[in-house]
Amino acid sequence: FGEQTLAGKHVLVTAGGTRERLDPVRFLTNDSSGKMGYAVAEAAQQAGAAVTLITAPTKLTVPSGVTVVAIQSTTDLAQAVLDRFPANDALVMAAAVADFQPVTVADQKIKKTPANDELILKLKKTPDILKEVAQLKRANQVTVGFAAETQNLLANGEKKLRAKHLDMLVANDVSRADIGFNGDENQVTFILPNGVTDQTPKTSKKLIARALVDRLAQLFK
Ligand code: PMT
Repeated sequence: FGEQTLAGKHVLVTAGGTRERLDPVRFLTNDSSGKMGYAVAEAAQQAGAAVTLITAPTKLTVPSGVTVVAIQSTTDLAQAVLDRFPANDALVMAAAVADFQPVTVADQKIKKTPANDELILKLKKTPDILKEVAQLKRANQVTVGFAAETQNLLANGEKKLRAKHLDMLVANDVSRADIGFNGDENQVTFILPNGVTDQTPKTSKKLIARALVDRLAQLFK
């Protein structure tokens, strides 16, 4: 490694699990640790790119030399991505984005009372950020999405690649405890619009990120 394959490129990476607030002290989120997205940011930076990392809250340290933008909700993430995408050559969406958000956010802590043995939460769909990005995308820009699947990895990955007009999709099986969310390792299948697929061995997220960055550099050629 150490080849400056992304020299001169501006790369936007998203990481972590978005938080959808219910009230001042509670939120809905998911198991994303941010490790996959941070590894991509680091690998892109090491490959010579100017990297901006848009991150939901994580316990990780931002790789040195990477510009960081902190967000919480899917709405924040959408705004940060849509604001910055025009000035970047590539977007890699490794963030685990909520598909639904509460219809209303309570101003005060939701209380339990003798009357409310059940609490019904009403959720609405979040904006699909990658679909909105596809509307802004210029011919020389590259978009890479992830697909977190618990079944039919390839078929669902291919659907997302097409629906979100991506140049590459990185599919991972999040039903497995040893890869996907949270751990230090992953195993992914890269899916390209021409139908070519390539499965990596199970290895560290850092090595997966390097493989992803090598492929990203190829997409600019
Ligand atoms: O953070 P780690 O613990 O290291 O875990 C890594 C990971 C499992 C979170 C990561 O590898 C991963 O799969 N990230 C994508 C998770 C996800 O939201 O997948 P999805 O299949 O629901 O969404 C497909 C793509 O659309 C993703 O690129 C997602 O960022 C994007 N999306 C999703 C919903 C939405 N409203 N807007 C989006 O742009």
